[in-house]
Amino acid sequence: MSETITPRRFASKLSPDIPKHWLPGNEVVSSILNAYTILVPANEGFYVRTLKACMPRIRNGQLRERCRKFIHQEAQHGVAHTRYWDNLDAQGYRFRAFEKNVDRLVFRVMEKFGPIGLRVSLVSCVEHINAYIGHEFLSQQILARADPRVKDLMEWHFAEEIEHRRVAFDLLQAVAPNYALRALGFALTAGLFYSLMCFQAVNLLAQDGILWRKETWRQIEAHMGSRHHMFRRTLRHLLDYLQPGFHPSQTGNDALAEEVLTRLASTTPPVVAPTRQSQPRTWDQVA
Ligand SMILES: [Fe+2]
Ligand SMILES: [Fe+2]
Repeated sequence: MSETITPRRFASKLSPDIPKHWLPGNEVVSSILNAYTILVPANEGFYVRTLKACMPRIRNGQLRERCRKFIHQEAQHGVAHTRYWDNLDAQGYRFRAFEKNVDRLVFRVMEKFGPIGLRVSLVSCVEHINAYIGHEFLSQQILARADPRVKDLMEWHFAEEIEHRRVAFDLLQAVAPNYALRALGFALTAGLFYSLMCFQAVNLLAQDGILWRKETWRQIEAHMGSRHHMFRRTLRHLLDYLQPGFHPSQTGNDALAEEVLTRLASTTPPVVAPTRQSQPRTWDQVA
């Protein structure tokens, strides 16, 4: 299995003058990815805690090392997206109560009552979703005209999701190799992920007072159908995950991810940089 996961951090500033609708002419995609940003830190905190809880069960040293680097990357995603919340606050969006409630009522409840195998199954499925969203946004260059600061943040995250897309699935095979559990994790995750993200994106558009504008619905149709084909492509990616012989290495594009990460690391100053402490001694030092 060839896979290189590099711990990095997002080193760029997210200045307060970033426009509210940072993808010109597409308030719908700006709002969908703002909703994604709002959900990322709690979501990724859940991955990190789940993988940390699994560590004592992982016998394979290589898988342990991949999990360690996965945790490092996810923790950095959470840090960077939380920094961007200051911009959302400054733009006047109300989202903090929603975010707190999702963390409390979804992730903390699942953590308290869900068996570890099911929790890993949820992480495995959402990691597949993260990887194909990343693949679609990067390969279709959907953010080509976006404000460069938000574009860098999103594209760094998308590329790392592609880079580490195999880890959670391989962990699920190691701790709970059970198709029924994978299917249950899929049903819960796909339902929750899309309900929460659509709810929050609609809420942001409503806060902007543009939800019922004709142009907004034209943009939704273009993103889901005629232009980005996200409805059809999402359905195909979701069904792929349910194939008994599925493995994340069958999807995504490592060369594309590497190209993006190399570009972001080679700017002056670099947009992403290797983390100073690339070899943490305990799991607590990473999350
Ligand atoms: Fe992530
Ligand atoms: Fe991830």
